[in-house]
Amino acid sequence: MNGLHIAGLTIEYSSGDYVVRPIDGLNLSVPPGELVLLLGPSGCGKTTLLSVLAGILKAHSGSVRFNEINVGALKERALTDYRRATVGVVFQAFNLIPSLTAVENVAVPLLAAKVSTSKARARAEALLREVGLADRLTHKPAGLSGGQQQRVAIARALAHDPPLVLADEPTAHLDYIQVEGILRLLRELAAAGRTVIVATHDERLLPLADRIVELAPKGMSKPRPPEHLVVGRGDIIFRQGEPGDLIFIVWRGEVELVRARGDNSELVVDRVGAGRYFGELAPIFGLPRSATARATTDAVVTGYTPKDFRRQMGSPSMADMIIGADLQPLDQEPPGAGRIGQESS
Ligand SMILES: Nc1ncnc2c1ncn2[C@@H]1O[C@H](COP(=O)(O)OP(=O)(O)O)[C@@H](O)[C@H]1O
Ligand SMILES: [Mg+2]
Repeated sequence: MNGLHIAGLTIEYSSGDYVVRPIDGLNLSVPPGELVLLLGPSGCGKTTLLSVLAGILKAHSGSVRFNEINVGALKERALTDYRRATVGVVFQAFNLIPSLTAVENVAVPLLAAKVSTSKARARAEALLREVGLADRLTHKPAGLSGGQQQRVAIARALAHDPPLVLADEPTAHLDYIQVEGILRLLRELAAAGRTVIVATHDERLLPLADRIVELAPKGMSKPRPPEHLVVGRGDIIFRQGEPGDLIFIVWRGEVELVRARGDNSELVVDRVGAGRYFGELAPIFGLPRSATARATTDAVVTGYTPKDFRRQMGSPSMADMIIGADLQPLDQEPPGAGRIGQESS
């Protein structure tokens, strides 16, 4: 089966106990001659997916096949050959070498593959003509517009005439006229029988696609509104051992964190007053609650997802959060506080 076939693909990054899974169980087949747009906001996993397709990054599970090549199983020499001859990558930031002319930049992958200098030069010139840069052969990147630089990058990706072309945000920083030129080029690559995958969050590219694959930010919880709670003395906010996905800020009153001990006694591990937060470990590390949170007075608290919490706090680093640095005093209570147990919408 020719073309690109992705089955059950899952890609994870892990650092310590914290796992990000931008691609989770993706299935996709793209025949030769088709141009697919990977569309989605920043952070949804577009570059990650392209890196796996390019053989630069290993997937956690699932498979990627291109023209009968099982990309995930390639090793050493075969992987080098795949990266060089089968797949052409157009990077987001052009990645051109500033000290080299357009021709020399396009010739780099050919020279790396031991093509003779004269053949590499001839091929590079032909490619630059194809992308409309016949009159810019000896210009260096600094002397080219953004759109022209991107076209040099496309020519370079085509050096080995790869059947699979991947482009990561190829129109970032380009104006409308320049975008038109790039679109036409990408379209022509597919028309010539290549499989072309373009990652973008640029909606100007929509008309270009044979197919659009929307990458939603997966693995993260759905947007969840903050949970405002008004509690009385003795009310429980969460219990030890429960899973937890919210970090709480105390706006008014005091909350104690108590840990149950084997002999049925309790240990007060912390008392948290207004302007401080608690409950950060469970949501950040996916651990169960290590203590029970109980109000010692009438109190007002709000639970946030880690992402909203960071926004609320002006983005303290994870390290600051875990050390538990005290927050700036908060001068405003959140609107719409409700009774404990009440679902906020
Ligand atoms: N090397 C890495 N280590 C850990 N996490 C990463 C790494 N690269 C990307 N991520 C995370 O993976 C997610 C997807 O990133 P990315 O593929 O760059 O998205 P996009 O290209 O759609 O903007 C993001 O949450 C990002 O923070
Ligand atoms: Mg990206």
